[in-house]
Amino acid sequence: MDDSTPTSERSSPALGSNPLLDSRDLRMPRIADPCVLVMFGITGDLARHKLLPAIYDLANRGLLSPSFSLVGVGRRSWSDDELRAYVEQAVRAGARTSWHQAIWDQLAAGMRFVEFSSFEDDDAYSRLTDVVVGLDATRGTSGNRAFYLSIPPGWFPAVTQRIAASGLVDESPGSWRRVIIEKPFGHDRASAARLDTLVSRIVRPDDVFRVDHYLGKETVQNILALRFANTMFEPLWNQRYVDHIQITMAEDIGIGTRAGYYDTIGSARDVIQNHLLQLLALTAMEEPTAMTAPAVRAEKEKVLASVRLERHGVLDLDTTTARGRYDAGFQGGVPVKGYLEEDGVAADSRTETFAAIRLEIANRRWAGVPFYLRAGKRLTRRVTEVAVVFKRPPFLPFDDAATAGVGANTIVLRIQPDEGITLRLASKVPGSHIELRDVSMDFGYGGTFNEESPEAYERLILDALLGDAPLFPHQREVDLSWRILDPVIERWAASGAPDGYRPGSWGPESAHQLLARDGRTWRRS
Ligand code: BG6
Repeated sequence: MDDSTPTSERSSPALGSNPLLDSRDLRMPRIADPCVLVMFGITGDLARHKLLPAIYDLANRGLLSPSFSLVGVGRRSWSDDELRAYVEQAVRAGARTSWHQAIWDQLAAGMRFVEFSSFEDDDAYSRLTDVVVGLDATRGTSGNRAFYLSIPPGWFPAVTQRIAASGLVDESPGSWRRVIIEKPFGHDRASAARLDTLVSRIVRPDDVFRVDHYLGKETVQNILALRFANTMFEPLWNQRYVDHIQITMAEDIGIGTRAGYYDTIGSARDVIQNHLLQLLALTAMEEPTAMTAPAVRAEKEKVLASVRLERHGVLDLDTTTARGRYDAGFQGGVPVKGYLEEDGVAADSRTETFAAIRLEIANRRWAGVPFYLRAGKRLTRRVTEVAVVFKRPPFLPFDDAATAGVGANTIVLRIQPDEGITLRLASKVPGSHIELRDVSMDFGYGGTFNEESPEAYERLILDALLGDAPLFPHQREVDLSWRILDPVIERWAASGAPDGYRPGSWGPESAHQLLARDGRTWRRS
């Protein structure tokens, strides 16, 4: 232990044996190996709002080793204590679990900051190496290292090349080296492949953990539980009974201060390429042989490879996709700027803040069943859901008047907020005559389980430190998702500016027409 190590580290109990903690966490009982997590981009929004609070929550739940150490890399001239103060602020503002001083002291003792004048600063990589090697010696982190690259993809060549040259990722028997990367995984198929080549130069493919935070959400993992741990849904989960599927990711917020990122990306690349296509894959895939990374990925890949943009065999992206951009207006009674007036958005921007796509899946299970995906900012409200809409009964032995208020049976997987599952079905209205109406049967996580769900990033950071890969998309999935999206984005690039839509609405008129062409409507519209 070096002299700079705060006394708290020497006196506090091991995190795993802290009496303040529940000693058994049945959902996540595995504790990560002693290791150093090097975080590039620690001063960014994602780290502040999500990653740092998640690390504290994991420590607080006894899931990190007492030796766990965090090295922040950034362009500030910070001392280790200044990093600790910054992390403490982020944790106090964003952690899910309560504050325990002993846990914090233990965690803070393992924090170091390395100043980089830029990501091309060769000397800084030498200093980083010294710090990491020093932590191995003083905190027993055993040479286990994870590099979290929460940085714009443009910096990947410089950073990966220098990490490799520094020797930090050289293989060493008995210890591991891993790289955790954040989306966007490129901006199209070709750039994603280039990015993958860069990362593969520094670690083996199995040691690359691509974060799609939707896969860390409990409700998303529950899709596979619902489908494959029950008997009653799977027999209906196919083209014989399902009319269509709607996958919605609606947000009521605008782009906030993220114009620098968002204006180069747009809605389709931001969330359809990853979150929505992953939701589609989990909803549509076949049963995996086991819940292992190779088995789950194999099924997701098969279904992504079967996705088609054609409508009944005809490719016409002008009728099967829609995009929009929010105008100025009011949201919840509050005046809001239009996208083009947001700070940092280019005056001639054509970036979409709403995207909708109709897809089909060319396999026996799903032939002819449209999957409608939509995502957007500044919509009516925040809701992410997968709605499986069933076909109407082939015959209804009731008067037309009695069934006038009956819609299609629907299973809604409520990803967020109000996490749970809803079944919409027809029921008799009480009374002496026959009248049927839709009713809901609800399962809500909140009311059923006493424990709050962990945040997605808790689960994903822990899994990456454990080397558990099932919740991380493979490069092949990334590639297949871009294969689906590239032609859409190319078509949009050639067809002018997106349609405007009113803040607080459900998107542009073209999105409604997209479903109307098929004789359907979006839920909630
Ligand atoms: C991110 C997108 O991946 O997901 C953001 O880049 C979006 O634009 C965010 O706001 C939404 O995440 P969540 O977990 O709040 O649905």
